[in-house]
Amino acid sequence: MKKVIQMADQLDNDKATARLVELRNTINFHNYRYYVLDDPLISDYEFDRLMGELKKIEAEHPEWVTPDSPTQRVGGQPAEKFTKVQHPAPILSLANAFSAQEVRAWFERIAKIDERVRNVNFVVEPKIDGLSVVLHYHDGIFVLGATRGDGEVGEDVSGNLRTVQSVPLKIPVEQNSMKPPRRLVVRGEVFMNVEDFEALNQRLSEAGEKTYLNPRNTAAGSLRQLDPALTATRPLNLLTYQVVEADVPAPKHQWDLLAWLRSWGFPVTRAATLQPDLESAIRECETWVTRRSSLPFEVDGMVIKINDLELADSLGVVGKDPRGAIAYKFPAQEVTTRLINIGVNVGRTGVLTPYAMLEPVDIGGVIVKQATLHNFDYIAEKDIRVGDRVRVIRAGEVIPYVIGPIPEARDGSETVYIPPSTCPACGEKVEKIPGEVAWYCVNAACPAQLIRNLEHFVSRGAMDIVGLGIKIVEQLVDAGLVHDDADLYTLKKQDLLALEGFADKKADNLLASIETSKQRNLDRLINALGIRGVGEVTASDLASRFQNLDELANASEAELQEIEGIGPNIAQAIVDWFQRPANKQVLSKLKLAGVWPSAERPAGGSAAISTLAGLVFVVTGTLASFTRDEVKAYIQNHGGKVTDSVSKKTNYLVAGEAAGSKLQKAQDLGVSVIDEAGLIKLAEDR
Ligand code: IVH
Repeated sequence: MKKVIQMADQLDNDKATARLVELRNTINFHNYRYYVLDDPLISDYEFDRLMGELKKIEAEHPEWVTPDSPTQRVGGQPAEKFTKVQHPAPILSLANAFSAQEVRAWFERIAKIDERVRNVNFVVEPKIDGLSVVLHYHDGIFVLGATRGDGEVGEDVSGNLRTVQSVPLKIPVEQNSMKPPRRLVVRGEVFMNVEDFEALNQRLSEAGEKTYLNPRNTAAGSLRQLDPALTATRPLNLLTYQVVEADVPAPKHQWDLLAWLRSWGFPVTRAATLQPDLESAIRECETWVTRRSSLPFEVDGMVIKINDLELADSLGVVGKDPRGAIAYKFPAQEVTTRLINIGVNVGRTGVLTPYAMLEPVDIGGVIVKQATLHNFDYIAEKDIRVGDRVRVIRAGEVIPYVIGPIPEARDGSETVYIPPSTCPACGEKVEKIPGEVAWYCVNAACPAQLIRNLEHFVSRGAMDIVGLGIKIVEQLVDAGLVHDDADLYTLKKQDLLALEGFADKKADNLLASIETSKQRNLDRLINALGIRGVGEVTASDLASRFQNLDELANASEAELQEIEGIGPNIAQAIVDWFQRPANKQVLSKLKLAGVWPSAERPAGGSAAISTLAGLVFVVTGTLASFTRDEVKAYIQNHGGKVTDSVSKKTNYLVAGEAAGSKLQKAQDLGVSVIDEAGLIKLAEDR
């Protein structure tokens, strides 16, 4: 008997390992489609589900976890300090040129060393404004990753690099029929896309934390975090462009090398081009001066590389700069202008953010009228006064920001700025929370907050309501159709049809995606609520600790603080949020609408609480808070069955306003009649 059980266990284990291998390969493949080919085949949602399944198997069998598993990107143990890594070959830098003239001068210098240079072609690549990293692969597995350091010795930041989604943890053999090289060392640039940088800053600002100055600083700071779990929350990216060492012959031309790297599953820029001669290479660089903002990341110039790598190498180096390549830098993006006034925006959690109103100024071909001032402390620290001449920088696509004043240019007419004591959107008082840099508007009904809040609620990382952009959010609020997040779930087709730009199909599509969003998991709903300091990561931690929003609402500050990463400020913000009457109302409306996921299953999912199992319902009349479809879904989500006509088999008739013949029939047959409050009570209490 024991043997039979053992055999059955073995069979289960075999099945689970087969699925584990399959899941890892599938996830790696989809990562490759997403990050390398930029051509995903499945939605984020489906991807998350695969990942969830893999995590579950690994949780049941921790002994099967390997460092190359895609789950290992979450960030391992914090480091005490980084250990030093000797690079296998010098990690060189680049000489700069600031004009076409300087590029030509470089070319003449190297042509003097080797005349063959006159007949070569060039690869032009964006010069990504990030940090150089050196990635080591052994038998196709990522084993070590280091920063550039001084070019000879860098720091081991493997744990952090592992969390970067586009760093292949395993060279996907499926994409290449050959075995990966035994040893391969690749160089690339780690950076943050401008959009992700702005979203991160927004998140930090909403949480009352200090924001970063630019994507490069953020990437640098994130990569040198001692705690990889923190790095994992930062949307870092990688592009590769050089093979430092390989035990197989790598292509001898840069252009082929880029294709080779891509074929091994490394992300490579699509913006590189092959140019037949120097003048076309220069022209190509110059077209990017105005096109640079079309790239998702910041670039501070273009790199012109001699395509023939052997020839390039034979030219040698000057200091740390190889002669075979040059950086053609874009013109400086810093200007000075006058600060006319300081305005204040109100974010979704009520954070007040100051911004500079500037005398319009041309920065790199773009007229700039506004710039970020980060927070009120920044204005005070830098002593920025209204009327000052200020230095403004616009690096690539990043929102321009004020670096500081030029005090020498003052004439005495400048005034010291005093932050507002009331909210500029609603006039209610503002408060500063101890330990945070931000000031908040405390009015939950503030219209500026409502719009920002809804924008967050429907966003991709939250309830992901496709097709509900900021314009429609504003339309819904302006038309008085939506006063809080939960109102989205009671929108009716007629409401939408009355809005400008809404025809039949658009209204149907929007209602369908609102309906679909009811299936989102608890972590997304918690994130969607927009509690100060609770972003995606904290929301997911809370969802794994609490079963549903009722449990979370009842949690004490002490209980919340037991969760790693939740300090007294966030714990208090959570408790406060659930105590506010307006929020309590939103919650009960969400519950009524069937948006009430519990930890293991999405709301409305097949495994919903079966409190109504075995009961047959008929619905009649007009209900106050449910549409017909909603009430049907609500009953089904709780395991009940809904039929059209009343019979002896009917257990309950749910009757609303103006109920007609069905009510009569139910009474005749002795079927229990309840109203919607009765239904909810039944569903929740049983
Ligand atoms: S090539 C011998 N290519 O720019 C190879 N560098 O200012 C020398 N960088 O340290 C580097 N994008 O961190 C190269 N497409 C690119 C680059 C790039 C960004 C960085 C790299 C280098 C720095 C020099």
